[in-house]
Amino acid sequence: MAIEMPIALPDTLLSRLSDFLELQIGLHFPRERWRDLERGIAVASRESGYKETQAYIHWLLAAPLTRTQIEGLASHLTVGETYFFREKRSLDILEQQILPELLRARRENERHLRIWSAGCCSGEEPYSIAMLLDRLIPDLEKWNVTILATDINPLFLRKAAQGVYGEWSFRDTPGWLKERYFTRRQDGRFEIQPRIRRMVTFSYLNLAEDAYPSLVNSTNAMDLILCRNVLMYFAQERARKVVDKLHRSLVDGGWLITSPAETSTVLFSAFTAVAFPDAFLYRRIANAGPQTAAVTHPVPWYQGNWEATAPRAPTPAEPSAPAAFSWALSTFAPEVPYEAVAEPATGSEDADSPEHDERETPQCKARACADEGRLVEASAWCEKAIAADKLNPAHYYLLATIEQERGQNEAAERALGRALYLEPDFALAHFALGNLCLSGGRQREARRHFGNALSLLRACPAEALLPESDGLSAGRLVEIIAAVQASLPHAPKVHKELTT
Ligand SMILES: C[S@@+](CC[C@H](N)C(=O)[O-])C[C@H]1O[C@@H](n2cnc3c(N)ncnc32)[C@H](O)[C@@H]1O
Repeated sequence: MAIEMPIALPDTLLSRLSDFLELQIGLHFPRERWRDLERGIAVASRESGYKETQAYIHWLLAAPLTRTQIEGLASHLTVGETYFFREKRSLDILEQQILPELLRARRENERHLRIWSAGCCSGEEPYSIAMLLDRLIPDLEKWNVTILATDINPLFLRKAAQGVYGEWSFRDTPGWLKERYFTRRQDGRFEIQPRIRRMVTFSYLNLAEDAYPSLVNSTNAMDLILCRNVLMYFAQERARKVVDKLHRSLVDGGWLITSPAETSTVLFSAFTAVAFPDAFLYRRIANAGPQTAAVTHPVPWYQGNWEATAPRAPTPAEPSAPAAFSWALSTFAPEVPYEAVAEPATGSEDADSPEHDERETPQCKARACADEGRLVEASAWCEKAIAADKLNPAHYYLLATIEQERGQNEAAERALGRALYLEPDFALAHFALGNLCLSGGRQREARRHFGNALSLLRACPAEALLPESDGLSAGRLVEIIAAVQASLPHAPKVHKELTT
């Protein structure tokens, strides 16, 4: 058994540090987790070249954190506990009920599906979803499936993108999983099959800070979001804001899956809680009206045991929801049987219909449809916006993001070409073109477009907000591009970009 180090840092300093981390990164360290905090910060301090942890903390507290500092801290202060097909009950419901219904509905029209693993850690969760879809969709190549996987910890993301795992990641999975989807390497580790790896896009996103939903980082119009064992590390107010943004990132009828230990009627009150045997999942349903049960007692936010920051000894089963939650659930949770949930209204509106709201411009309509995942309509509204104002590069950029979401990459590329013809200094369009080239395997071209974007961005003040970006600053896009470049083979060093 590991020997616990006594707490050596003064309470006042730990208290200031935990407030600061909550504000700047969203990482919440209540007093009962100060030991984790102290352990992590000591390692981060050594890694940054400090002999004295206190001096390191004072340095951190002196100014707002830079992206490099956030990444460094996240590498040591976040919990990397995950494995394939974790909390299998929710995934069974997904496989047996939610996804088959969604696939049936989508099969007739646009064959697209958008899934987001928010707080994906080292990739086991999004890859589990990819394998699940591979089993469910025999003609997968005819579908446009997006699995976005984001995390704040760059080390986890790097491991995820490599897709190489040890036995510990398979601690609760059947043997056939490895045989079917992994190749055993000489070092005894298991490498995920490239076709499954290609189904998932990993990227950095700080749930506490970054903008979402947004077309820019493709966090809009999700059919399904998994945000499991992440919210429990946030303070209640922060968790509330994150849940609100996740709600807006879903299409009408979209699903949010959390961990059973995070179930809360207060936190997810904007959702319809859907009761399955042994699990509650949350659904965004427009005009669902008030929830079926009122919360008469405030249910305290997370009361379970925090997952240990340090690697944990194997446990045979998942920790169950703490007693307080079980009680809260059975008392207040609206019990909506799955079959009884009304189908979401499609709200379908034809771009050619004379009845559309004349007060709204076609580009507003296009955005609204895109946000709701009605991509054919969004594209039609965008074409209308272009027809009315052919020289506006923003319309072509919007069209490009919509076409990309539809899996129409050539059309997206054409639209970006037009946007850049009209506005050669459109940094976001260069960035988007770089991403498209990357997804098409054209790395050299991608680098060129990223380089163009960086030159333009460096000429702007870091805090300047970029047009058409949903509030993204020039400095933040520099960081994002640097992170993408760093993930490319033979990429320039990250810190070189980050110092700009
Ligand atoms: C315990 S893991 C959960 C992994 C996976 N979702 C699961 O349930 O197995 C928590 C993850 O949340 C990530 N995380 C913590 N704070 C975050 C934030 N502010 N933004 C994004 N990810 C965050 C951590 O880096 C870590 O990978």
